[in-house]
Amino acid sequence: MSTHHPAPRLFGDDFRERPQDAYDRLRAAGPVAWAEITEGVHALVVTGWTAARALLADPDFTRDPGHWNAVAENRIPAELAFMVVPGVQHAEGRVHERLRRALEECLAGIDVHEIRARVHRDSRTLIHRFAARGHADLMREYAEPVVALAFTELLGCPPGTADPLSSAVHTLTSAAPDATLGWTDLAGILRDTVAAKRRAPGTDLTSFLLAHPAALSDQEAVGLLASLIVLGVAPTAAWIGSTLHALLTEPAYASRLVGGAVTLRTAMNETLSLRCPVANSSVHYARRPKTVYGVRVPLGVPVLVSHAATGLDPGRPGRGDALDRSHLAWSAGMHRCPAPGLATSIAEAAIENAVDALWDLSAPVSTVAAKPGPFMHCPAHVGVLFSPLQERERNTPGELL
Ligand code: HEM
Repeated sequence: MSTHHPAPRLFGDDFRERPQDAYDRLRAAGPVAWAEITEGVHALVVTGWTAARALLADPDFTRDPGHWNAVAENRIPAELAFMVVPGVQHAEGRVHERLRRALEECLAGIDVHEIRARVHRDSRTLIHRFAARGHADLMREYAEPVVALAFTELLGCPPGTADPLSSAVHTLTSAAPDATLGWTDLAGILRDTVAAKRRAPGTDLTSFLLAHPAALSDQEAVGLLASLIVLGVAPTAAWIGSTLHALLTEPAYASRLVGGAVTLRTAMNETLSLRCPVANSSVHYARRPKTVYGVRVPLGVPVLVSHAATGLDPGRPGRGDALDRSHLAWSAGMHRCPAPGLATSIAEAAIENAVDALWDLSAPVSTVAAKPGPFMHCPAHVGVLFSPLQERERNTPGELL
């Protein structure tokens, strides 16, 4: 590492409270700069929009974590398990093409209207659980479970797996010391799902993948499902939580939406620019020593794209316009997110339902820290107050649920 000052930390309480401070310091050091991603582990982080686009298309870099020194030396910190869990995000060349094609073709067979209808139904059930109470944590009691339910139904997971799946993903993506346990639990659920669908296929994404001409092995199928869950569940829940949090705490954001100046979709798009759910990810490794933007990239070192920082890069084209879609929230290039449409349907339906049902939501009752770790950005909790159901029933019968 060639920096004289301690590198900005993308973990710990300061980062949770004020991530922008770390991004500002990184940006000041150039579009590519050193950061500490967990205690004692350094990586290069790309904060410039143009530099990130270039990296995402650069064949001199690989996504294979086998090139990371820590993997070769078998000393991956548990907190960083997210960077090495199996999945299509690490596949390369022909292998990636084959897995990605299977994924895209099977995702294309999903009935998005049906998913929306299910999310509406699940949202109402979840809201019903806390509606009489007059307060709730919309992150832990709503955003996370509603997305977990949508995914367990989408994948045809055994009944009762939404809660364990949600907690496994949370542990894995929060860079917690027990993150590897999160992976063990998740892999167990996915192995059971694949085995059950081999025995008795249904009309779910897992069955579609197993029936695809790519003839996936069980291990490949588990890896693909893991990518869908890890890069789908946590970001979609984060998107819902961050949008609801902004609606509750940022009067300008809320008044433009309530006043009709922007649609919910546009407000959600703005969240992707300003509060990007997958904050730092898309991990690359140089195939040979290389210099990018004047920074030497040694072999064996992870190079992360800060999707969050690139959204706020003053050099990003169109920045500031809520309609602008040049953000890299979905990443770009061959490994870009394959499911923005599906994610939008789930998140939009969940946000609509929360806002409609709990129409007099008021500001969070507690201070909100972000989820820990470098990977996902969203409030850890969104505590809210609202009129309890019984009271509302007396005033406006039949309005809720
Ligand atoms: C239905 C919901 C979602 C599904 C099923 C999904 C699935 C996936 C998959 C399978 C990948 C790996 C693609 C590859 O490497 O070829 C991926 C990548 C990615 N997704 Fe999603 N995703 C979803 C929602 C989201 C959301 C809401 C966001 C953020 C707004 C997001 C951001 C990303 C990013 C940044 C990547 C690249 C990550 C990397 O390269 O490490 N995804 N997604």
